[in-house]
Amino acid sequence: MIRLSPRLRRFALAIVVVAGIVAIGALAVMAGLFSTSVVDASARTPLTADQTKGLVERGRYLVRAADCAACHTADGGAPLAGGRPFPMPFGTLYATNITPDPETGIGRWSRADFQRALRDGTAPRGHLYPAMPYVSYRQLTADDTDAIFAYVMSRPPIRQQNRANSFPFDYVRPTLAFWNLINLPAKGFVPDTAKPADWNRGKYLVDALGHCGECHTPRDLTLGMIQQRYLQGTRIEQVDAPDVTPAGLSRMGFDAAALARYLPAGTGPQGVMNFSMYDVVHNSTRWLTQGDAAAMAAYLMGSRPVASSAPAAPAAAASGLPAAGRQTYLQLCSACHGIDGEGIAHVAPPMRTNASLRLSSPRNLLVVVTGGLPERPLPGGERFQAMPAFGHLLDDRQIADLATWLRGTWGGMPAAVTQDEVRAVRSTLP
Ligand code: HEC
Ligand code: HEC
Ligand code: HEC
Repeated sequence: MIRLSPRLRRFALAIVVVAGIVAIGALAVMAGLFSTSVVDASARTPLTADQTKGLVERGRYLVRAADCAACHTADGGAPLAGGRPFPMPFGTLYATNITPDPETGIGRWSRADFQRALRDGTAPRGHLYPAMPYVSYRQLTADDTDAIFAYVMSRPPIRQQNRANSFPFDYVRPTLAFWNLINLPAKGFVPDTAKPADWNRGKYLVDALGHCGECHTPRDLTLGMIQQRYLQGTRIEQVDAPDVTPAGLSRMGFDAAALARYLPAGTGPQGVMNFSMYDVVHNSTRWLTQGDAAAMAAYLMGSRPVASSAPAAPAAAASGLPAAGRQTYLQLCSACHGIDGEGIAHVAPPMRTNASLRLSSPRNLLVVVTGGLPERPLPGGERFQAMPAFGHLLDDRQIADLATWLRGTWGGMPAAVTQDEVRAVRSTLP
């Protein structure tokens, strides 16, 4: 045995004691000693058959407003039967079957199990990964969560085994208690009584049901949403989910009335919702009542004075825009988007008033020009044709000039788009 000096021995003892305290603390966190549940004891009483029946229709609306299907339905798969992959830096996590099949779905779940999964992020099998947006759903009311439960349980049970998550997801589950300690708010939704009812309704729709911040709020190193930068925009799946604070929305050409029309329609003078925002419209915001869409828009626009209903083009940069960009636009784009960027109704969206030319970064514009867009149905029977890809026809210089000219002319964004930016976008496209 090594003989330690008395000083070293005291030091070693101190380390053992500290390590012991840390270990006990860690076990206590994982055992849930510091976690706060927002689900109260009344959830332990099951809903009666009559209560359940009465809640189903409201639940259907809420499931749409909360966009459960976006994640719990695989491409071409049965509704809510799970299987959609979530690629993460260290493996793939799969959304689960939430149909009432007793073996493979949640058919044996109690009302309390469901409340805890949605609002505390804890399922019977342990902590859920925050890819399930329970940080936002924590703000759901108990009543709305019951309605969602009633609706989900009224769906046809679908027998579909959950796909196994890749290692190490299921082993790391207990440590999510630490993540929750840092990132899960202590309380659910607290209405601001100083604000009007429709403002509170709008906030609830945005934060709790629509979980808009999950894509539009930047995240910190732990991947928690940074509340000080609420809705200020971030990058998600290689594109920018833009700033949707009042300042960002006005920059894109929205006022409350225009936004209330755009959210359910997915298109308007500001262009078309693309990328993952298309799915949000397709599965979720198109189903909102007019009143809810208006409340959402009013909340998002804040108390800013409402501008005119048609977004005016910001002043064009007087000079210095590359003439080559204009040339490319006239040759390749104007047949569909119009000589003056006015677009063609039901064929191609306008450029003059398009939000995608007004974002702080040119990234989304470059992704569209380089990779094109597929043809997709929009609400109300609207349908644009596909937008062709130009990445193979134009070199980096030509695309940079075109983007600079478009942003400068119609977006009020005169800063030059560089070839490096074009190259960076190309490298992320298939
Ligand atoms: C952004 C994607 C996303 C959305 C939206 C979403 N979920 Fe999830 N959900 C997931 C993922 C991923 C998991 C699996 C998490 C895990 O394995 O830790 C999950 C897990 C669950 C579970 C736990 C199931 C189990 O077997 O343990 C339930 C219940 C659930 N979700 C219900 C819902 C409901 C109801 C909604 C709508 C109100 C919803 N989810 C919306 C991604 C999502
Ligand atoms: C799954 C991620 C995701 C969620 C959830 C999400 N967004 Fe988006 N959002 C995006 C992306 C990506 C874009 C960029 C789309 C584009 O360039 O067309 C976007 C764009 C927008 C725009 C700009 C309009 C446009 O044509 O680009 C608005 C306004 C918007 N989102 C509002 C919302 C609101 C309100 C919610 C909540 C109901 C929400 N978003 C939820 C990803 C998301
Ligand atoms: C054949 C017709 C056609 C041509 C040519 C064309 N586009 Fe498009 N473009 C479309 C259509 C249709 C859409 C809408 C697609 C959708 O969102 O589903 C679109 C969408 C866009 C968008 C996204 C707008 C938004 O609201 O999000 C941009 C930016 C764009 N085009 C720029 C260009 C540029 C620049 C060129 C020339 C290099 C060009 N387009 C050539 C038809 C065309």
